[in-house]
Amino acid sequence: MPLVGMFDSGIGGFSVLRAWRGQLPGVPVLYVADQAHVPYGGRPREELYRLAAGITRFLLGRGARLVTVACNTASGAALHRLRAEFPGTPFVGMEPAVKPAAAATRSGVVGVLATPGTLTGELYAGVVQRFAHGQSLLEDACPGLVARIEAGDLDGPGTRAILERALRPMLARGMDALVLGCTHYPLVLPLIRELAGPGVEILDPAPAVARRAAWVLTEAGLLPAAPATATARAPLFLATTGDPDILAAQAARLLPGETPELLAIRWEADMLISFLPRQRSAASACSGRS
Ligand code: DGL
Repeated sequence: MPLVGMFDSGIGGFSVLRAWRGQLPGVPVLYVADQAHVPYGGRPREELYRLAAGITRFLLGRGARLVTVACNTASGAALHRLRAEFPGTPFVGMEPAVKPAAAATRSGVVGVLATPGTLTGELYAGVVQRFAHGQSLLEDACPGLVARIEAGDLDGPGTRAILERALRPMLARGMDALVLGCTHYPLVLPLIRELAGPGVEILDPAPAVARRAAWVLTEAGLLPAAPATATARAPLFLATTGDPDILAAQAARLLPGETPELLAIRWEADMLISFLPRQRSAASACSGRS
């Protein structure tokens, strides 16, 4: 079975990973969380490309046959260049769900929550130009929200205040469709649902992206017939440039039913390398002696 590579600045891509594992649990996945650099949202495009290319090289070196850029910000900044730089690799990226939102809205007022990088990028501008005809788009970059989600605050007062501040003016103007344009935001979907109320359709692109990745794998001849892939749960590897113990705790909370293998990785210039964290090597040395 082919290994699928996925990455994000942190745990945001778990929203895509969950959809992917729901659809194709039998395909092994290597997920990279670049938590040494989270958040990506305000970083320059050139830096984001360098990070995305380094992560892609790492994933391909580990045997990934498809790379899912489970990050809107990195998709906007780097996807075109990644496809040019790695022509033999199929990539699947994120695109803000403006098209389905424009189709769903009855009031003509659509809210978009995404990072500054996504909202000012060409990918988003192109999607708006193609699909938003006559609708008003109300955008908010939700400053601080990604950091709060990374810190595990999924429904506390701080996260609630950021979302309330963003959603209140949108609701006041009659917004009835809301695009989640950052993969971190579906992780706080219950809170967003509560604050937006029942009259707002919330568009999370993760299931469609997972379906698209499955289609790309099939087209590339890498996926056997669907029933064979839908049975046993294949291994899940989670690599982080941050603290693997923190990522393990985040995964235990956000990826129920998974027993991932954690990998510690770090940047050396533009390359990612695996290593044994110091406290772990000390711990295993101790357990080896006893
Ligand atoms: N989850 C990412 C996105 O979809 C990145 C958020 C961030 O690191 O700022 O944009």
